[in-house]
Amino acid sequence: MIQNLNEELFSFIKKSPTGFHAVHELANYLTEAGFERLAEGNTWNLAEGGKYFVTRNQSAIIAFKVSRKDYSGFHIAASHSDSPSLKIKEDPEMNVENQYVKLNVEKYGGMLCAPWFDRPLSVAGRIIVKDGNRLTTKLINVDRDLLMIPNLAIHMNREANSGVSYNPQKDMLPLFSMGGSDVSLQKLLSTQLDVEEKDILSHDLFLYNRMEGSIWGAENEFASSARLDDLQCAFASLKGFLGAQKQDCIAVHCVLDNEEVGSGTKQGAASTFLKDTLLRINSGLGRTYEEYLMTLADSFMISADNAHALHPNYTDKADPVNHPLLNKGIVIKYNANQKYCTDAVSAAVFKDLCDRAGVPWQTFVNRSDIPGGSTLGNISNTQVPMNTVDIGLPQLSMHSPYETAGVRDTEYFVKAAKEFFA
Ligand code: CO
Repeated sequence: MIQNLNEELFSFIKKSPTGFHAVHELANYLTEAGFERLAEGNTWNLAEGGKYFVTRNQSAIIAFKVSRKDYSGFHIAASHSDSPSLKIKEDPEMNVENQYVKLNVEKYGGMLCAPWFDRPLSVAGRIIVKDGNRLTTKLINVDRDLLMIPNLAIHMNREANSGVSYNPQKDMLPLFSMGGSDVSLQKLLSTQLDVEEKDILSHDLFLYNRMEGSIWGAENEFASSARLDDLQCAFASLKGFLGAQKQDCIAVHCVLDNEEVGSGTKQGAASTFLKDTLLRINSGLGRTYEEYLMTLADSFMISADNAHALHPNYTDKADPVNHPLLNKGIVIKYNANQKYCTDAVSAAVFKDLCDRAGVPWQTFVNRSDIPGGSTLGNISNTQVPMNTVDIGLPQLSMHSPYETAGVRDTEYFVKAAKEFFA
């Protein structure tokens, strides 16, 4: 079971090099499970027993099951589809003394820069193509070793092992071709998509790490892959959501975009996407606005975003007591300044849920002298206020293009999500 689950997770991540692809894959899972696709631009005809999903910007998705019209509340699990990466700028080819062509890129999110060097990279994202009188969107994944960001040799920077600061405009531009090649990125993409080069009007394209997921360690304890933050949570939440039959509540599986850049977009946690969807469920089932507010008071959200495990080389960076370990269960995240919205009430509800599911849980708090990160729960709460717990699966190397987790923890979240949605 655990091995199959990790392999399925790796396969999901491989097909999901960007948030656009992740949402496409999640939609495939849902369609296969009999969910009906709704469009924000159309009228929704919802019925008791129905299963639906809706996307926004192709990079955020909300799925829900209408178990009954007189539901008592929403049970929501939210995660995010994006990860730190390098985004390709407009007109990206840069000629280097007629000898090389490199691509102009900019950072997306708070990445660890060093691990992006000296590894095969590729390009994926979406392209907008002029198709007669209309503009159509096409997802693209070049899906071959295409780019590399070469390190400077130690001989040319003797300080390279004593701490380097990376200038993204100088140090991190990937090599694309030798000079004199007449293959531009646009040409390469147009050939793959079988469209005219001139018809490609615009793009949202990101670099991604080509290395596939790997299970390793003396007893195969560790699972490493790109984009574990936060596709591990998005995947586990979906598996639990699909595996559960909800009776009294509306089960909502929600994957939002742009968490890595502050969530402040139309498809991020600060947007009205979740609120709009819940309101349309409410009115689509013939309920009043007051009933909507009443159900919010009886609702619960799991904000799921990966958590820091104790690092073997930096135990001093962790809280002396609340430092989660790989393979030891779901992490409940606390922060006095409310970067995480866990409080005594939501923590108790979640611990009880895990106990009922037979799943171990552990706790994370930052060292009091290290500010730590943030996530989407408290941002989402400003639009859709409800009892919320911030949780995640323990991992190392967060925001590296190759992150490490435990082989057991994905299953723990699947089980807890199943209990939550059932
Ligand atoms: Co995250």
